[in-house]
Amino acid sequence: MIPLSIPEISGNEWAYVKECLDTGWVSSAGPFVNRFEQEIAHRTGAGHAVAVVNGTAGLQLALILAGVRPGDAVLVPSLTFIAPINAVRYVGAEPVFLDCDDYYNMAPEALLRFLDDACVTRVNGCVMKDSGRRIAAVIAVHVFGNAVDLEPMLSTCRERSIALVEDATESLGTRYSTGALAGRHTGSIGDFGVLSFNGNKVITTGGGGMLLTSDPAAAAKARYLSTQAKDDPIRYVHDEVGYNWRLTNVQAAIGVAQLERLDEFVAARRRHHARYGELLAGVSGLEVAPVPPWAFNNCWLTAVRIDASRFGMDREQTMAHLQTKGVESRPLWHPNHLQRPYRDCVAWNVGRSVSLWEQTLNIPSSAGLTDEQLGKVVTALRDARGL
Ligand SMILES: Cc1ncc(COP(=O)(O)O)c(C=O)c1O
Repeated sequence: MIPLSIPEISGNEWAYVKECLDTGWVSSAGPFVNRFEQEIAHRTGAGHAVAVVNGTAGLQLALILAGVRPGDAVLVPSLTFIAPINAVRYVGAEPVFLDCDDYYNMAPEALLRFLDDACVTRVNGCVMKDSGRRIAAVIAVHVFGNAVDLEPMLSTCRERSIALVEDATESLGTRYSTGALAGRHTGSIGDFGVLSFNGNKVITTGGGGMLLTSDPAAAAKARYLSTQAKDDPIRYVHDEVGYNWRLTNVQAAIGVAQLERLDEFVAARRRHHARYGELLAGVSGLEVAPVPPWAFNNCWLTAVRIDASRFGMDREQTMAHLQTKGVESRPLWHPNHLQRPYRDCVAWNVGRSVSLWEQTLNIPSSAGLTDEQLGKVVTALRDARGL
């Protein structure tokens, strides 16, 4: 089976993990944690990076630090993995689902239209007309590593005192190439950004995440909260409810080794995306999903869009066909406004999210995908057309 996205672990991972074991630095305080944080901060241009156990915890931490309170509303895309939506619920807030653009990301126009039409400014901030809920934050997810059209969203949020959290869990290596944000890395622009080092991501620590912020006080608070809020670490005095969320030194050691090869991994994934585009051009009813032209995108996962009437198979049939040919593929996440825990939440004109979900399939994109494997995927898709 040619897998969708697997890690490439063939660098200094063994050596650095051995160093942890040999020195006894295995737990959360340790030299590799500090080094991983410094190197990620340097790579992304974020002022501060705080290593945590996973991206989901990082998102929850970001919402806490952004001042999201129980009963608030947080604007989220419907089309994304469920983790950022769950993080909203973990802090007692309610997600409100907005529609996406052609690159699967929250559309700036959808955000502006929702705030103009469905919300009003009161003394306590921007609130929803119907429910009176305060709009405390927006979570912009850089889906598949595609850079969100963030520039207009930044001013939309700032004008209304709404916090902007970037879910950059899929987009390490993605940076803007045009406009006012040119040169800036995803995750380093909003009030907070969050990375993930889950096994299927561009780099992995097995499981892990990183909170990014330019605010030194927020970074200090993130370290405090993620290490059980120790006000006196010797006598175990705690003035707040904290969390056990710090990344271990062993995981950070893997992360440092992986980060050494980030450019290579991103180059490979971008090459795969381009090659799929060339080899599948002209297949009727099939299109490699475009990536936003305003950024150098990491192309974490390549997606194809299927027009079932012209291709002759819908998304599910294509996935089943690829399976018989030894190719793993996956549909997009079930839209979150249709997920059982979130069906009663507000979903604001999310028609495009549903139609893109119906048409899209992710295909093998690992950095280590060989030319031969990529050729097999292309042949399997071309064969499907012939059936
Ligand atoms: C968009 C998105 N947000 C959040 C997460 C959660 O990250 P983690 O698995 O590290 O908790 C993931 C991936 O796993 C993701 O794809």
